[in-house]
Amino acid sequence: MESNSDWVDVGALEELRKRELQQVLVGRTKVALSFKDGEFGVIHGACNHVGGPLGEGTLAGDYVVCPWHNWKFHRITGEGEPGYEADRVPRFECRAEGGRLLVRATPLTEGNKLPHDKHPLDRPLGRFEGPLRVAGISTTAMNAKFPRYSSSEALLETALTHVREKHGLETRLIKLRELNFRACEGCYSKSSKACTWPCSISQMDPSDGMHDVYDALVYWADVVLIATPISWGAASSLYFKMDERLNTVQNQMPLRNRLLLKDKIAGFVITGGQDNIQAVAGQMMLFFGELGMQFPPFPFIAHSRGWSAEDMEHNVDYVKRSAELSEGERALSERRLELAARLQASASGSLSRGGRKASGAH
Ligand code: FES
Repeated sequence: MESNSDWVDVGALEELRKRELQQVLVGRTKVALSFKDGEFGVIHGACNHVGGPLGEGTLAGDYVVCPWHNWKFHRITGEGEPGYEADRVPRFECRAEGGRLLVRATPLTEGNKLPHDKHPLDRPLGRFEGPLRVAGISTTAMNAKFPRYSSSEALLETALTHVREKHGLETRLIKLRELNFRACEGCYSKSSKACTWPCSISQMDPSDGMHDVYDALVYWADVVLIATPISWGAASSLYFKMDERLNTVQNQMPLRNRLLLKDKIAGFVITGGQDNIQAVAGQMMLFFGELGMQFPPFPFIAHSRGWSAEDMEHNVDYVKRSAELSEGERALSERRLELAARLQASASGSLSRGGRKASGAH
């Protein structure tokens, strides 16, 4: 064995040949060690994207696939996949000696990060000037070709019409069923650092429909009204699909001590033929509270006819005719705007130790 201390013994050849890809330490550096077609390859273990552990990924042909968001690097040269060769991680020399594998601690090549265009959602936080702006998010599901009446969406539209007509404010209505967006793929479960802002799905998929929700919530709106039907005692499936994709917003607090939804007001519309309004409202308030949003007094309006009501057509009729519900929604709009105006006027400072379990940055 060479006495040159730059060469590090990383283990017995016999053992290292048993796995196609693994992470090993060369001194204090984590590298991705691969063995395929009788040849070892050693490249740096930290992915160029946001540092995913390449040695814990998989091999696809001669490419190491990062376990976090699937970027690829050649297992021998460290170069990115075809078309992205210049986006490379360092390559290391290795050699067999006396039944052991030695890896040279000084990389043979240097890494290189190609500049990537900033994602449109990756921009400075902060409210841009102008009057208050109100977004509505309808989470009800229905057939796009043959739409039906939705009582929760109708009340949401009542609220948006009210703020436009009475206050001259700008509104946006987002219907989740019209957005083509993927379910959260659980990057957070791999590592908290794998859950990025902007969401890695949005970064990888330019057609990701959640863009509209992120843009409205984080950058555009001061007030957000979320409407849902009650389905089996809970909010709609689209509502939960959206919530899970909002992990990226919540995760910025424990990970970076960064509050994306600052001085934002939330309110809710909940309607259903059967009951469970309090549980649905409770979940919605918990979730949007954990995102950092604030609530006016009495932050939701709701309607249901009770457990034994199966005549849904009467429920719809009731909501259509109910002056009380429409009036309640307009009154709630006023409370939301009043609180939003007060928050803007006071321009609150940072919220220290925010987020679940009062986590600080780590
Ligand atoms: S692809 Fe490797 S960290 Fe994102």
